[in-house]
Amino acid sequence: MNILSPSILSADFSKLGEQIIQTKEGGAQYLHIDVMDGVFVPAISFGMCVIQSIRGITDMVFDVHLMITEPIRYIEEFAKDGADIITVHLEACRDVRATLLKIKECGCKTGLTIKPGTDIEALRPFLDITDMILIMSVEPGFGGQKYIEASTERIAKVREMIDSSPYEIDLEVDGGINLSNVTTVLEAGANVIVAGSAVYKDDIRNNTKQFMDILQNGGRK
Ligand code: DX5
Ligand code: ZN
Repeated sequence: MNILSPSILSADFSKLGEQIIQTKEGGAQYLHIDVMDGVFVPAISFGMCVIQSIRGITDMVFDVHLMITEPIRYIEEFAKDGADIITVHLEACRDVRATLLKIKECGCKTGLTIKPGTDIEALRPFLDITDMILIMSVEPGFGGQKYIEASTERIAKVREMIDSSPYEIDLEVDGGINLSNVTTVLEAGANVIVAGSAVYKDDIRNNTKQFMDILQNGGRK
């Protein structure tokens, strides 16, 4: 089953709780939580306090995308605050394997992500301990950017890599996804879709529903 993971980075933070509930009512299963440290990426977003607060209002799966340097330092804390899946950037870790093992040790699912310019082959050594691969389809750093077209081929190649391995790994794509290009992303082999600005505008519940219609009736089942 395909999964929608709306990115709260594009939410109105003065109404965060109610907007999250609207995505849940629209059928989204995950909540994508973008943590930025101002070092790995130029922007600073939010951290533990926000995750703790929203953990109290929903049982959605917390899909935490850490855009921070040496994330191993904070894994325990994010796990304690309610993360379900913790995704780290391969480029941000001195020891990728140790970081992923730490995530597992803390009882969370492991996610491994790469920026648009990183060779997808860099993922291969970690397939055995990765529950989800995240392909960035924009440069990480902020919401509302345009989908990089070359991502489609990268998604297809990573899907091939997963399917020819003995492992069951989810394939998530993040950045610039909207109702017009989501089918292409699904057809390339993604099964977890992040959408920020395309969900958190105007009628959030209805935007989510429209995504869910496509996710449930098209693409990879
Ligand atoms: C970018 C973030 C994305 C972003 C997606 O660094 O990782 O999750 O919020 O937003 P849209 O869907 O607007 O590109
Ligand atoms: Zn993200």
